[in-house]
Amino acid sequence: MLTHDLDMALRDAVALIPTDQIFVLTDSNTRVHCLPLVQTTLRLPEQQVFTIEAGDANKTLNTVEQIWRFLFSMHATRRSVLINVGGGMVEDIGGFAASTYMRGMSYVNVSTTLLSDIDAAYGGKTGFNYNGLKNSIGLFAQPKSVIICLDFLKTLPAEQFLSGFAEMLKHALISSPLELNRLLEYDLNSRDTNELETLIQRSIVVKSYIVEQDPEEAGMRKTLNLGHTIGHALEQMSIKQGRPMPHGYAVFYGLLAEMYMSVRLLGLSDNVIRECLPLLYDYYGKPECSCKQVSELIDLMHHDKKNTTTDKVNFTLLQAVGNARINQQCDDKTITEALDWLFSL
Ligand SMILES: NC(=O)c1ccc[n+]([C@@H]2O[C@H](COP(=O)([O-])OP(=O)(O)OC[C@H]3O[C@@H](n4cnc5c(N)ncnc54)[C@H](O)[C@@H]3O)[C@@H](O)[C@H]2O)c1
Ligand SMILES: [Zn+2]
Repeated sequence: MLTHDLDMALRDAVALIPTDQIFVLTDSNTRVHCLPLVQTTLRLPEQQVFTIEAGDANKTLNTVEQIWRFLFSMHATRRSVLINVGGGMVEDIGGFAASTYMRGMSYVNVSTTLLSDIDAAYGGKTGFNYNGLKNSIGLFAQPKSVIICLDFLKTLPAEQFLSGFAEMLKHALISSPLELNRLLEYDLNSRDTNELETLIQRSIVVKSYIVEQDPEEAGMRKTLNLGHTIGHALEQMSIKQGRPMPHGYAVFYGLLAEMYMSVRLLGLSDNVIRECLPLLYDYYGKPECSCKQVSELIDLMHHDKKNTTTDKVNFTLLQAVGNARINQQCDDKTITEALDWLFSL
């Protein structure tokens, strides 16, 4: 999956799928920075490459339709394959468009962001944002293969690198104190590539293991939602305000607030928060939100697809590092306290 030889990985991926036509999907940034690396191997005619606008605000039904229309115009069939070249946005929407086109054609993810390397590229969750809610329409559909090549990270903006690092933090928190220490010791200023590769591999193992045990999120996979109940609400609000926050930043703030709730409700040691807080002060910065937005955020959380009751919000919280507890039903008062704390940092 993680390769140093992109050329061979692409050849192998294509050889595995009996296909009549190959198409590539990029966004406006990956078209510039990543497509040339892929085209060295694929050498597809220009008309077989389709490009959508970058950014989560474009993960919409309208964009899905654009992809479907492109596939129809090119006479794609169920034996065709769509190669998504991009981060989680391209993969989520490309995966959805491919797996619903003519009841499903194959797709491959060529991951180009850190976040997608360790998270979004595999696991089979596809979809788009709808009705003001993150990923509210979608389906589980596994990619035929996933290619992770760290060469793509060379052009990734620093902010996007941090966005991915937050999901690595989540994996470490649900995995073990050892993984957490390893990650927190990583020097984000010098960004040693060998060390990073090891950390990425470990992070991939955490997610892959969980997804293999529970591919359709009946139970264990919900541990991966840590940080995401508050995180998704922050992200949705930022999109609505026209100042989109990178997904991982929202997750980082969500992790902090949900750890605060975990200390209160499950007795998590507050040392864990203390260990993670320097990341806020040194790298992520404080969230640009105020206590005035708390009720709007809570309202968004009540519409989260993870909820099972109407009066409480469903969270994954931490009893200890390495011990996540799913299906924690929390009331508005507890959530308000956590958000007030987060915004007062
Ligand atoms: N399906 C899943 O399991 C899953 C898991 C986590 C996140 N997600 C989804 O993934 C998305 C976030 O993923 P993301 O952080 O990869 O965002 P993204 O795909 O929007 O990429 C972030 C930005 O980086 C640019 N970019 C990508 N690769 C680049 C490169 N190599 N060089 C220069 N620029 C590059 C993109 O154009 C974009 O502007 C969200 O939509 C989130 O909901 C899905
Ligand atoms: Zn996420």
